Amino acid sequence: MPEPAAPPADPTESTEHRLGTTGVAHREVGGAEAEAANLAWWDADADDYNATHGGFLGDADFVWCPEGVREENARLLGDVRGRRVLEVGCGQAACSRWLASEGAYAVAADLSGGMLRHARAGNERTGVAVPLVQANAERLPFADSSFDVACSAFGALPFVPSLETVFTEVHRLLRPDAPWVFSVTHPIRWIFPDDPGPQGLTVTQPYFDRTPYAEVDEDGVATYVEYHRTVGDYVRALNATGFALEDLLEPEWPDGHTRTWGQWSPLRGRLFPGTAIFRTRRA
Ligand SMILES: C[S@@+](CC[C@H](N)C(=O)[O-])C[C@H]1O[C@@H](n2cnc3c(N)ncnc32)[C@H](O)[C@@H]1O
Repeated sequence: MPEPAAPPADPTESTEHRLGTTGVAHREVGGAEAEAANLAWWDADADDYNATHGGFLGDADFVWCPEGVREENARLLGDVRGRRVLEVGCGQAACSRWLASEGAYAVAADLSGGMLRHARAGNERTGVAVPLVQANAERLPFADSSFDVACSAFGALPFVPSLETVFTEVHRLLRPDAPWVFSVTHPIRWIFPDDPGPQGLTVTQPYFDRTPYAEVDEDGVATYVEYHRTVGDYVRALNATGFALEDLLEPEWPDGHTRTWGQWSPLRGRLFPGTAIFRTRRA
């Protein structure tokens, strides 16, 4: 999920400090700069991310979002037994290991070698050794029609300038009628500050402003980039790249779920959605 881990007590230990982040900019960021920034950011944050969220995500479990929706119950991908499944932006690859334990031939891809180091450690811990591939979701190194299912839990999409580029690539890799299901931060969250508490309940920026959020170093070079799309932007990008939208899930915050994940909290989760899960199919 695109929320950084909780900041450490010593600020010189933070990912931002290690990357030389000095400020925030709202400006256009092109593909090459975004790729370099996010590769460096996820490499630098990989240990913190896994230390903070690894327990919640599990070693071989498919958790779609901070609200705790699990594929084991939701079954958004259908029956995966014997299916070739691609996970995009896999991070520690817990989802792929769960898919493998269900009988799928899962392949896990991620941009960050740091995140894949944790994926490899997970493979070794569990003995479920899913293939790991370091690749940008915009250029995936697989043959046409080589997968029956594709999925992503908060992987890659928030960090690339063009949804259409990734969707076109996923379309190329899938056989006809194959499901492509992905979760992202719900677009409504863009208008609020990234704050799990009461400060995160006040609108501070327009929903319609797609200018990316970037963190920058003292030379103004991006050290982290995130892109915003409206719900309509997702629908249009899916239509334009040959996917049929079958459902848009907006998971409600479950009763008794007290875990805060960055800006996702019980307080906000009870009032408005934090996650959007798009269930689509290659047309
Ligand atoms: C928020 S984490 C999600 C990881 C995992 N799916 C989970 O649920 O914990 C986002 C992941 O997307 C990866 N990522 C970012 N940009 C990417 C890109 N352009 N291509 C592939 N992966 C990317 C990051 O390295 C990171 O592992």
